[in-house]
Amino acid sequence: MKNFTYYTPTRVIFGRGTQAQTGALVAATGCKKALIHYGSGSVIRTGLLTQIEDSLKAAGVAFVELGGVVPNPRLSKVLEGIELCKREGVDFILAVGGGSVIDSTKAIGYGLHHAGDTWDLFSGRAKPAGCLPLGVVLTIAASGSEMSNSCVITKDEGGVKRGCKSDLGRPVFAVMNPELTMTLPDYQTACGCVDILMHTMERYFTTGTMEITDSIAEGLMRTVLANAKVLRYDPDNYDARAEVMWAGSLSHNGLTGCGSDGDDFATHKLEHELGGMFDVAHGAGLAAVWGSWARYVVDELPLRFERFAVKVMGVEPRASIRETALAGIAEMEDFFRFMGMPTNLRELGVGPTEEQIATLARMCAEGVGGRMGAAKRLDEQDMLSIYRAAL
Ligand code: NZQ
Ligand code: ZN
Repeated sequence: MKNFTYYTPTRVIFGRGTQAQTGALVAATGCKKALIHYGSGSVIRTGLLTQIEDSLKAAGVAFVELGGVVPNPRLSKVLEGIELCKREGVDFILAVGGGSVIDSTKAIGYGLHHAGDTWDLFSGRAKPAGCLPLGVVLTIAASGSEMSNSCVITKDEGGVKRGCKSDLGRPVFAVMNPELTMTLPDYQTACGCVDILMHTMERYFTTGTMEITDSIAEGLMRTVLANAKVLRYDPDNYDARAEVMWAGSLSHNGLTGCGSDGDDFATHKLEHELGGMFDVAHGAGLAAVWGSWARYVVDELPLRFERFAVKVMGVEPRASIRETALAGIAEMEDFFRFMGMPTNLRELGVGPTEEQIATLARMCAEGVGGRMGAAKRLDEQDMLSIYRAAL
């Protein structure tokens, strides 16, 4: 096992009705004026925004609002948020929504502490020097951004989607009421379940790890698989919503990577290019490329894929390690189909030309500085092959 640092400063307030505590949580930080940041309208339709406003008023916290964050959140909205915060003297940002809203919130927080071009923080030219304190009221279990150190933004021109990692942007608190996720369309619930699984799978397919980390990871993945299936038929099942929501946070707060040789995250990087070019939902994009990635790298880590097949996917061991490993991959793809998720780009609804595939691979390689992956180091040619296999 490798040395590791595990840092999770986010206070979690979990369960029914917890959104009523939001105002008191903001007030307890000592901040005086909040920006309530939200998406394209679901929080207005569900009445959540009004509840949050009432909670802030009751706690004596002044606020301004900025909605309009879209999935694959845009830099232009981040810049609008930075200007608004400066103008209004905002000292706290409250994200009410999912990963896109939270990431936009983190980017505004970083941008307020960065003198130059905010995109520098995403292109890798600069690192965040600070972040305005932020909190989250979560409405979808998916990205894990409510506890993660990560933030992913898309530049409007050219559709370049890039991430920025820093512990400075970890939320001060995350309010998580599983009931709030019951208004999600089934497609978004399914996208979320895929993303949650992927955050642990990206950490699982590496070499050296710890038994305790493996056991936590396998338990987490089995829990998500089982409860995602429940939600397919019974989307208002509170316990299943709760299991998936908590799994979403634990999957991406670092817990399932402790002691390992390093994250893979190749599937994520391949997906981010698809999100940038075609504006697809993140979880669906991951499902569309994962099988092609897995079959491309399976021979690098046959024992790991075999263990995954048996312990997570419930596959009966086959005649050879390789056969068992491949059966585990096929089983996961069956799960994606069951959830209404794609297993290739055609099913995802995009049909990139050969030129676009070459662009995706080139941009992905550029974005990672040439090579990526822990299961297998992938260069631009490898990325091209995986995109082609996913057609
Ligand atoms: O915008 P509104 O109207 O709120 O609608 C959203 C959006 O259309 C809707 N929604 C959310 N909660 C709802 C709801 N609709 C009804 N009822 C509710 N309770 O769902 C749609 C998707 O929302 P979004 O925030 O985009 O989803 P998600 O949480 O999956 O976030 C995706 C973004 O997070 C990034 C992705 O790349 C993508 O840009 N990620 C961020 C990570 C991080 N910061 O750690 C890690 C992830 O790997 C991921 O890359
Ligand atoms: Zn993800």
